[in-house]
Amino acid sequence: MGVSFLGWGAAVPDRVVTNADLTATLDTTDEWIFERTGIRERRVGGSAGSLGLLAAQRALADAGVDASTINYVVLATTTPDNLIPATAPTIAHQLGIHAPAMDVNAACAGFVYALRTGVGLAATGSSRILVIGAENLSRWTDWNDRTMAVLLGDGAGAAVIEATDGPGDVLSFDLGSDGSLAHLLRCEHGGTIWMDGKEVFRRAVRIMVDSAERAIARAGISIDDISLVIPHQANVRIIQAACQRLHLEMNRAVVVLDRYGNTSSASIPLAVDEARTSNRLHAGDYVLLTGFGAGMTWASSVIRWAT
Ligand code: COA
Repeated sequence: MGVSFLGWGAAVPDRVVTNADLTATLDTTDEWIFERTGIRERRVGGSAGSLGLLAAQRALADAGVDASTINYVVLATTTPDNLIPATAPTIAHQLGIHAPAMDVNAACAGFVYALRTGVGLAATGSSRILVIGAENLSRWTDWNDRTMAVLLGDGAGAAVIEATDGPGDVLSFDLGSDGSLAHLLRCEHGGTIWMDGKEVFRRAVRIMVDSAERAIARAGISIDDISLVIPHQANVRIIQAACQRLHLEMNRAVVVLDRYGNTSSASIPLAVDEARTSNRLHAGDYVLLTGFGAGMTWASSVIRWAT
């Protein structure tokens, strides 16, 4: 038994904040930000709830299914609208869904964690599941801290999955965590996001490559079979370094961080949505999703694109 993807959707706030905009208040330049990160602009605004709702509505429309047929909602977010209640039940209510709904926090690996949760739920009787990644990182950003403010953005992406007989579209997973690295990237209650960027960078490449290789091996394929890699969007140099070690040409990687920055749990579904709407995904393609984040956590999955 496995799952198939029925539809995808994404949403970003309307407000664009360019690197040039940030130079008005921060001691930084467009050149520094673009050369060190690959980011040109980011979207700012909304909330995990409002962006997640919009992405979910679009995924449901793409799937052509009525919200009332969803029997589980899993929302990956590190920036829920409130500590209590979770944001997923509010989104579910706004969609007219009365099924179980919960948040999952695995930082930037969150969407693949939520997908793994959804696949597990499908195997135990939940037939149609809404998996969302939504973030409002701007709320937890110190806009006077040039080391963080240039990196983060807001957004959401969602997928509708359905239990199916046979292996389905999700071929493998590799998930993990190492809490001894909790100090590298954190945000305390009432605080703002802080990161040891150099150390995260160094570890991120190795973690992502190792995890990707395990997921590819578990899918029973080789790296040459991967048509597209859809990585977490933290820094284009991390994506380049990971691709180089995996012996994947960069033209097989989807990069959207130039326009959205790092949107944590939302980055992978946002990138999937862009890849599908720009015809970079074709039936039968093997696609690698891979991410890492605070915790530290990591998660990779190989999926086979069906439509
Ligand atoms: N504009 C201009 N200069 C900046 C700056 C900015 N926005 N931010 C930092 N600097 C300065 C630093 O103060 C430092 O100056 P110094 O040499 O005088 O001390 C210099 O630029 C180099 O800083 P450094 O932190 O060494 O840069 P870097 O090349 O490591 O790039 C990051 C910084 C954050 C872009 C990079 O480390 C990174 O992407 N890390 C991982 C990010 C990540 O993956 N995060 C999310 C995990 S989910």
